[in-house]
Amino acid sequence: MNLLSNDAQQTWSQRFESALHPAIAHFNASIGFDIELIEYDLTGSQAHAKMLAKTGILSTEEGEAIVSGLEQIRQEYHDGQFQPGIDAEDIHFAVERRLTDIIGATGKKLHTGRSRNDQVGTDTRLYLRDQIRQIQQQLVKFQSVLFQKAEQHVETLIPGYTHLQRAQPLSLAHHLLAYVEMSNRDWERLDDVYQRVNISPLGSGALAGTTFPIDRHYAAELLGFDQIYENSLDGVSDRDFAIEFLCAASLIMVHLSRLSEEVILWASEEFGFVTLKDSCSTGSSIMPQKKNPDVPELVRGKTGRVFGHLNAMLVLMKGLPLAYNKDLQEDKEALFDGVKTVQACLEAMTILMNEGLEFRPARLNQAVAEDFSNATDVADYLASKGVPFREAYNLVGKVVKTSLAAGKLLKDLTLEEWQSLHPAFESDIYEAIAPQQVVSARNSYGGTGFQQVKRALDEVRSRLQTLSQ
Ligand code: ARG
Repeated sequence: MNLLSNDAQQTWSQRFESALHPAIAHFNASIGFDIELIEYDLTGSQAHAKMLAKTGILSTEEGEAIVSGLEQIRQEYHDGQFQPGIDAEDIHFAVERRLTDIIGATGKKLHTGRSRNDQVGTDTRLYLRDQIRQIQQQLVKFQSVLFQKAEQHVETLIPGYTHLQRAQPLSLAHHLLAYVEMSNRDWERLDDVYQRVNISPLGSGALAGTTFPIDRHYAAELLGFDQIYENSLDGVSDRDFAIEFLCAASLIMVHLSRLSEEVILWASEEFGFVTLKDSCSTGSSIMPQKKNPDVPELVRGKTGRVFGHLNAMLVLMKGLPLAYNKDLQEDKEALFDGVKTVQACLEAMTILMNEGLEFRPARLNQAVAEDFSNATDVADYLASKGVPFREAYNLVGKVVKTSLAAGKLLKDLTLEEWQSLHPAFESDIYEAIAPQQVVSARNSYGGTGFQQVKRALDEVRSRLQTLSQ
């Protein structure tokens, strides 16, 4: 049987009689995916080495040799020369081994006063910090694109729905700005999660701390961590930060998926509110007339993956006794794929909203002129003339019923018909129920009235300016 040679392959081999079964070596190894952490592993180890030198645990020369050896590995990796195989088990062993190849026995001192348990926690946090900042930038870009569209469509109307039934007409800008608000909360949520990602577990050791006089604060400072874990057991076993991230990521996906669903509806023949550009849609292999909204469909589809990762992480953690358990190695694929999926979906949706679709203002404005979504405004009209709202509401219900039966819209009723329904109706009823007026009149704070939408645009503009700085 092709067993891995014992002393050549495993760092811990001296304790063992025989080598790992190759299938088990494969099963156990994380190098296939934790290679993603290499930059962070190198940076984390450089900080650890500097700390060991500063505290006198290693000599200055030893510290320097380690730091530059690690830098050489970084270069080798960038040049495509460092490609560790599964015999290395994971990125941490791979780097330590290569370091020892490069600088000799001093490389074996790097792991003084630390364990892979605090090391992997450190690497994962450094990785996630970077990814969070990148996603936040993407969220700002996404909001900017929606904002620009909104600016162009303040006076374009769109049917507003509840229960997917026509409810009240809206400014299209107001509709788009709703997504800007959602996306802004996503940004803020990530900023909040960042605080709990940016805590250093380094120096927690395997679980209990270390006998060496390490300086955890110094290493944390070198790595830009805001705080250090107070308790070594918690430091090595906490994955709350990853769960929190996946939770924030799931909400981003919820928002992208809801927008996707709307775009898919809007692009249908039945709605016809947008046309998809060729750059962002695909054809069918059999139906020559088709133009499919693949981008929003894929985003909607990928949303489930991110929820799955969140769920996987929650289940992964729920039964784990303190402290490190190998189960924790499973956090990485969930996290990495969650990060990549959110990044890819944000990029695609930003392109789609920016240049992949075009709203059809004529069709949109026409849509709101041909329904009963101004019925509330008739009730409001009467209420403003002193009729109690509930009474007005009941009366308008009757008006809608008779109009429907007569095949008419409210705007088609004659003044006599209006007045036969209630003497308070006067000729200004026609203006009061015209779609532009209906929208413009909803001028309560945060409403769809054009004044409000312009105020909201001003606020979003300055918020985005601050965020892009
Ligand atoms: N590859 C491991 C992981 O990703 C590193 C930590 C290993 N620690 C251990 N005690 N076996 O979790």
